[in-house]
Amino acid sequence: MLYAGIDLGTSSVKLLLCDEKGNIEKSVTKEYPLSFPSEGWAEQNPEDWYEKTFEGLKELVDGRGAELRGLSFGGQMHGLIMLDENDNVLRPAILWNDGRSAEECSYLNNDIGRERLTELTGNIAFPGFTAPKILWVKKHEPEIFARCRKIMLPKDYLNYRLSGEFVTEPSDAAGMLLYDVKNRRWSPEMLDICGIGEEQLPRLSSSFEKCGTLKKDLAAELGAGEVIIAPGGGDNAAAAVGVGVVGPGKCSISVGTSGTVFMTSGEYTVDSGNALHSFAHCDGSFHLMGVVLSAAGANKWWTETVLNTGDYAAEQADITGLGEGSVFFLPYLMGERSPHNDPDARGVFAGLSMDTTRADMNRAVLEGVAYALRDCVEAARRQGIELAEACLSGGGAKSPLWQKILSNVLHMKLNIPACGEGPAYGAAMLAMVAAGEYGSVAEAAQKIVKISGSVDPCEELAARYDRGYERYKELYIALKGWFQK
Ligand code: XUL
Repeated sequence: MLYAGIDLGTSSVKLLLCDEKGNIEKSVTKEYPLSFPSEGWAEQNPEDWYEKTFEGLKELVDGRGAELRGLSFGGQMHGLIMLDENDNVLRPAILWNDGRSAEECSYLNNDIGRERLTELTGNIAFPGFTAPKILWVKKHEPEIFARCRKIMLPKDYLNYRLSGEFVTEPSDAAGMLLYDVKNRRWSPEMLDICGIGEEQLPRLSSSFEKCGTLKKDLAAELGAGEVIIAPGGGDNAAAAVGVGVVGPGKCSISVGTSGTVFMTSGEYTVDSGNALHSFAHCDGSFHLMGVVLSAAGANKWWTETVLNTGDYAAEQADITGLGEGSVFFLPYLMGERSPHNDPDARGVFAGLSMDTTRADMNRAVLEGVAYALRDCVEAARRQGIELAEACLSGGGAKSPLWQKILSNVLHMKLNIPACGEGPAYGAAMLAMVAAGEYGSVAEAAQKIVKISGSVDPCEELAARYDRGYERYKELYIALKGWFQK
């Protein structure tokens, strides 16, 4: 039998086809545009997601529809999609890295108060989260707010189009700031604060149970019979499943468009410093997570937009002197989430001189992202979480040089999974559990996920990076006021 995992990313949708043992048969990627209509804003057209996904699904399955038993999703989190009474999309989706709702966050964090928000949801407000964006639409686009009948997250929109089910699950619901993570239900107080009703929100299911089936006409187009659909997870939770980070006390680090440090926990916990999100995992437990808004996304911007090349390996080939350079880079191109919660922060190169080379700047970008992830790791260490080892995934994790930099900056052994397609692979695994191939997500992870290698820090380089990290931290402190102006 075959299973499809669909990862609805920010620049593309990645689809993976595998058998019930997790052997990958095929993968397909389809890109779609991302628009920045104003500084710090990020939007996408949900119709593009659906069109590209179904196009990709047809290519993926191509003649093998009859073997397709199930599918599920991993998706970019927090995006706000609003539908009217006829299920028409009311406005472009406002994405996870959109910083427009700073004022609404300030209202939520200061007027409602951080403590109250944490009591209700486990989290404070960050501009990428869904609730502050709903408040933004309510204030700036009242006619759209008034016509809105359904509010949903990106991967749940795909599910709705493919199965007709209006459903979500804990790992993604947690990122809306409307969900009471501890008690696994919508928070009536948060809905009140946002002026919405529960009927506008999807029903809650677990991430790994059958929530519907592929619509008959779509299944027929694929040549498939009944295709079971499971709700799946937010991309980071699905990626964690895909690299075997299931069960308490484990860590997954992903270097995709965003960068995340994802730490599982058997119990509900909250970061007293509010730098880390307190979310639900899609195996039925909980996790804490630090988020760097621009990780491989910052390197993509630097390499493709500025240097105008797609040859990442060639750019990295000339890099020498790890941890020794005087050039530093702050990757805050879309503001920053953990630990600063600052939508006004911006990217910075510092320490340039006449002898600075292109390779120095390439190195600074890779190191800057690693230092930003170290900020998340330090926030976790301050909470008493021991982080000696993690599983690394995401596009950026494919570079051996970046793996080495990350391992040494973070002081962590990094395990490299045999399948680097974290969210799509995890999604396929969730579909397998829903179809009854495995009794639990833990069992699927234990039987399917394989690690192909690991990278260990070395004392001398890690010590050099400790000194670099101290200098890196000073930069944001020095520039914070300037960003605000
Ligand atoms: C997590 C977050 C990002 C997106 C990227 O909180 O905002 O990792 O999910 O797709």
